[in-house]
Amino acid sequence: MENRAQWGTRAGFILAAVGSAIGLGNIWRFPSVAYENGGGAFFIPYLFALLTAGIPLLVMEFTIGHKYRGSAPLSFFRMNKKTEWLGWWAVLVSFVISTYYAVIIAWAISYSIFAFNLSWGQDTESFLFGEYLKLSVDPGQTGSLVPGVLIPLIIVWVVTLGILFKGVKKGIEAANKIFIPALVVLFLIIVIRAVTLPGAAEGLQTFFAPNFETITSGSVWVAAYGQIFFSLSIAFAIMITYSSYLPKKSDITNNAFITGFSNSSFELLAGIGVFAALGFMASQIDVPVQEVVSGGVGLAFVVFPQIINEFPAFNGLFGFLFFASLVLAGLSSLISISETYVAGISEKFGLSRKAAVGFGGGLAAVISLLFATQGGLFFLDAADYFINQFGVAFVGLVEVIVIAWFLRNLNDFQSHANGISDLRLGGWWKICLGVVTPIVLGYMMFDLFKTNLLGQFDTETGNYEGYGDTFILFGGWAVAAFALVVGFLITLKRWDSKALNESNKEVG
Ligand code: ALA
Repeated sequence: MENRAQWGTRAGFILAAVGSAIGLGNIWRFPSVAYENGGGAFFIPYLFALLTAGIPLLVMEFTIGHKYRGSAPLSFFRMNKKTEWLGWWAVLVSFVISTYYAVIIAWAISYSIFAFNLSWGQDTESFLFGEYLKLSVDPGQTGSLVPGVLIPLIIVWVVTLGILFKGVKKGIEAANKIFIPALVVLFLIIVIRAVTLPGAAEGLQTFFAPNFETITSGSVWVAAYGQIFFSLSIAFAIMITYSSYLPKKSDITNNAFITGFSNSSFELLAGIGVFAALGFMASQIDVPVQEVVSGGVGLAFVVFPQIINEFPAFNGLFGFLFFASLVLAGLSSLISISETYVAGISEKFGLSRKAAVGFGGGLAAVISLLFATQGGLFFLDAADYFINQFGVAFVGLVEVIVIAWFLRNLNDFQSHANGISDLRLGGWWKICLGVVTPIVLGYMMFDLFKTNLLGQFDTETGNYEGYGDTFILFGGWAVAAFALVVGFLITLKRWDSKALNESNKEVG
């Protein structure tokens, strides 16, 4: 008897996987990453990363979850007892991400309300940092909790944990069936409005103008891989967890292609919408588009409010739609990020889903308060920088090396996926995972460790406006070391025997 929770329909699983993939990374990260790394020419390394690493890894993670039918740590344990730590590592990366990801969604909730009467005023930058975030302390200090952030943050956690409480089918699947179609509709309205604004064409020209010189630079390839990993939720433990709820008869390869291409299509749509809007703003204030481009926090919470101010009509409504889509995209990703530790804790310690949500989610919610303090933005930047640079891509690299080279499981996984999928995986899949991805990611990590260990930050790529490399370095390594120790300690404990021996273990 199969007693593991399951998705109700194939569409339900795909929507949940797409909901996890489409997130803040698509809307605020992709447009600026693509622009800074060669515009139209960036699509070459981007597509290369999608086809040689993104989709192959997605197929691999779907196969692992489907075959071993457990959270990431349990799946890795069933694959080989010695690799359980790898699952915890990915789960801990997700845990840390969830603590600050929730805070960005909280800001977006506040801003969707501010939008109605444009309460950010004309100086949107001082509004964000001064009035809203009350950022008045030095990096590393917390100051007091900021009520304007705290209240929406509580809402974010109540909604997320409430959905997780209800379970896989009635909670996660049901929520994504509403969130994702709603997100697509809202976002299409924004993009159509944006491309019909005056100046949009110049914005798009700036975005797509290919600068082919850039693609010979290593850092552009690194950016493409980083974007694909974050955006597709790979090496976060998420896709393994989600696919562990698939029924035995499920397509894997096709689902991975659908997820990968839906995510990239949304990303492209976001790039078009954002750059059309930037072109409009540049034309309003009569400066070149290049001068108004920004990414991350600056793009969503400083530049977008300015663009909304300039809108010819219905400013409040469009402002609301933009921030509401950030909220929907963010929530559907946060749900998946948090489900990784809910599933892991529940299986390891034999807890009910409700207890695991209360404990894991509760702990994440308490830690997230740090980012709702006056110094929260500094902590958030440090955590985000480190986790993205090292956490996700590093886990991905170790994952492919362990599976392809040490355990030599790829043949086995290939026949598992081929046994149930419409599309058949050929030798290309093993070459991508066993050779291409380790070489490119290995180079990427080598380069990153070199710069970061020496403390030479590329301050251009983040929001880290030179306010303290040492702070980021110290904070980042402290969190990384903490995650390693916790991951190791958990593996010392035995699995709850019921979870381990349930009839829902390995398939095929
Ligand atoms: N994949 C999620 C995003 O893009 C985490 O934000």
